[in-house]
Amino acid sequence: MSTAKLIINDKEFEFPVFEGSEHELAIDVAKLRSATGAIAYDPGYGNTGSCMSSITYIDGDQGILRYRGYPIEQLAEKSTFVEVAYLLINGRLPNADELDKFNKRLIKHVMVHEDIKKLFEAYPPSAHPMAVMSAMAISLSAFHPDLLDPEIIDTNIMRLLAKFKTLAAFCYKKSVGQPYVYPRSDLSYSEDFLHMMFALPTEPYHVNPVVARALDLLLVLHADHEQNCSASTVRMVGSSQANVFASVAAGVNALWGPLHGGANQEVIMMLEEIQHDGGDVQKYVNLAKDKNSKFRLMGFGHRVYKNFDPRAKILAKAADDVLNALHVTDPLLDIARGLEDAALHDDYFVERKLYPNVDFYSGIIYRALGIPTNMFTVMFALGRLPGWIAQWKEMHNDPATRINRPRQIYTGETVRDYTPIDQR
Ligand code: CMC
Repeated sequence: MSTAKLIINDKEFEFPVFEGSEHELAIDVAKLRSATGAIAYDPGYGNTGSCMSSITYIDGDQGILRYRGYPIEQLAEKSTFVEVAYLLINGRLPNADELDKFNKRLIKHVMVHEDIKKLFEAYPPSAHPMAVMSAMAISLSAFHPDLLDPEIIDTNIMRLLAKFKTLAAFCYKKSVGQPYVYPRSDLSYSEDFLHMMFALPTEPYHVNPVVARALDLLLVLHADHEQNCSASTVRMVGSSQANVFASVAAGVNALWGPLHGGANQEVIMMLEEIQHDGGDVQKYVNLAKDKNSKFRLMGFGHRVYKNFDPRAKILAKAADDVLNALHVTDPLLDIARGLEDAALHDDYFVERKLYPNVDFYSGIIYRALGIPTNMFTVMFALGRLPGWIAQWKEMHNDPATRINRPRQIYTGETVRDYTPIDQR
């Protein structure tokens, strides 16, 4: 076994070094504090492995993303979202019988308790759907208490996976003031979501297969991304033995931020701003480089990908294919392509290895599918749900899991005496 040596004030310490299945190296510093008295300082956790995981592999330099060993490109082309959800949660691809049973369980649990509709009524129509979605995810724990019994956990996982789709569509219906549409058991997962989003009592909705396939592709591409901000949040909350609904609700909140899943909404708002401002993409590239401005190119850059984001590559092509198949022209697509081209030829972006990420083209496809901008991050959450569940389950079943509790370096005042208010 190889080891790493650390010298602190002339004293030498040795720590085990181990390898992952893709030969990633890690220094095991679990005993760092007890052996040396020092802690590891790593703000943003860019160098910290918080767990061992067999779910998703990313090689950011090579632009590789695999779920349970399967390349994202193959899953995007050949699989479905439900099959990928099974794969992530159970660790292997299902056979036909297993997939059928899984689908039937999703159908069985797809309805939400009627009282949940009363919760929707309490929100103003202007509420952001992510605020409502987070509240609905945690509310499920009030309707389906979790007793940490393995069988109940398994049922609650299926409930969450099935009902999240219904809740997401209800969020949209609430925001536009239309009656909620109940799920249909004869439709696929993505078709049923589209039906619940767009059907009206006065007009049946005929699902366009191009739209359903494009949605399924988007969900597959978002399904997991190892220890990102929201997955780490799910694990962090779950490490206190909080139930799966509570942990995933926390993940929804983490996802909402504009640096994470909220970026897909921001990208479209940015492209619209560029369009209204005359379409000068170079002006916005310059603004993103200006350190006096807070503006960033949304949908650009990634903590891990430093060559290209394989999801963005698939989506850039899908955006063309879907818009062509639906006979949609979207001027924002041309602006996005112009912006990408300008940034990729700019030294600032080249030196920092900033490339379009998954959020750059996804919004253009969602728009073509008729999904409004404020629902984009909910769509990301819908896609990411099996990943959160898989991460939660792996954490929950791992005997090495301890409550997550980072340390800090204190930089505040040293001890001082309390002064009465009239002496301050
Ligand atoms: N526009 C302009 N400059 C950028 C951008 C950007 N989008 N992203 C990073 N930089 C610069 C940053 O200013 C820094 O420059 P310098 O070295 O001169 O200080 C350098 O590149 C490194 O950036 P960082 O902020 O240290 O990188 P990070 O790994 O902490 O942040 C990120 C990653 C994704 C938060 C960031 O690239 C970003 O803010 N991008 C825009 C938001 C976005 O698209 N988020 C979606 C991420 S992918 C989907 C998901 O998983 O959520």
